Amino acid sequence: MDLAVLNTETTPKLSSKGKYMIYLTGGLAVGVSVICIPFVSPALRRVCLPYVPATTEQLAGVTKALVGRSGRLLDVGSGDGRIVFTAAKLGFQAEGVELNSILVYYSRLAALFSQHMNTKFYRKDLWTFNLKPYQNIVIFGVEQMMTEFESKLLKEVNNGTVVVACRFPLPNMTPIETIGHGVDTVWKYVIKK
Ligand SMILES: C[S@@+](CC[C@H](N)C(=O)[O-])C[C@H]1O[C@@H](n2cnc3c(N)ncnc32)[C@H](O)[C@@H]1O
Ligand SMILES: *[C@@H]1O[C@H](CO)[C@@H](O)[C@H](O)[C@H]1NC(C)=O
Repeated sequence: MDLAVLNTETTPKLSSKGKYMIYLTGGLAVGVSVICIPFVSPALRRVCLPYVPATTEQLAGVTKALVGRSGRLLDVGSGDGRIVFTAAKLGFQAEGVELNSILVYYSRLAALFSQHMNTKFYRKDLWTFNLKPYQNIVIFGVEQMMTEFESKLLKEVNNGTVVVACRFPLPNMTPIETIGHGVDTVWKYVIKK
């Protein structure tokens, strides 16, 4: 699963030095992939949002959901940065917020070596991170957090913002598009305010 980090589809056009760094740091990504980050949600439940990297099918679904969009994009819980890099290649100013510092350093390093200048990674808690500046938001979360995340979205983002949810949908909103099947399903929403 973590070998997907080395996939040329997700980290293309690396210099050989860059590739070497990815191989080195790829070991780190393997090491942290089993760590589950528990957080106390605003509703005071302990929720665990583990690091599970998006599959190639999910990345294809996210890409399809973003057709025709532009501007700033945030991946919420950006992991090793693969969704951010996919979006950067599509021309977005692509950013990630991630609590796990190893994954943040890994992503910054990968950005440097793959020369993705239109990317940024913040080591912050998603629950206190302001979503308002983003016209596009991607989330690959867990089911237990989606209700709260939906209310955070509705509070913070502007009318017309596109939200792309991977694996778990937003519980109360109607998607404008559903892409893919099973665990690789991606839902696209437009926030109306
Ligand atoms: C299911 S993974 C998705 C990773 C990436 N978006 C992808 O699709 O490949 C969720 C990520 O959220 C991170 N995470 C967990 N709790 C967080 C929090 N409170 N704030 C920010 N990131 C968090 C985890 O470390 C993990 O990398
Ligand atoms: C919200 O955005 C949509 C386009 O996504 C637009 O059609 C609608 O008029 C906007 N509503 C308001 C209140 O600005």
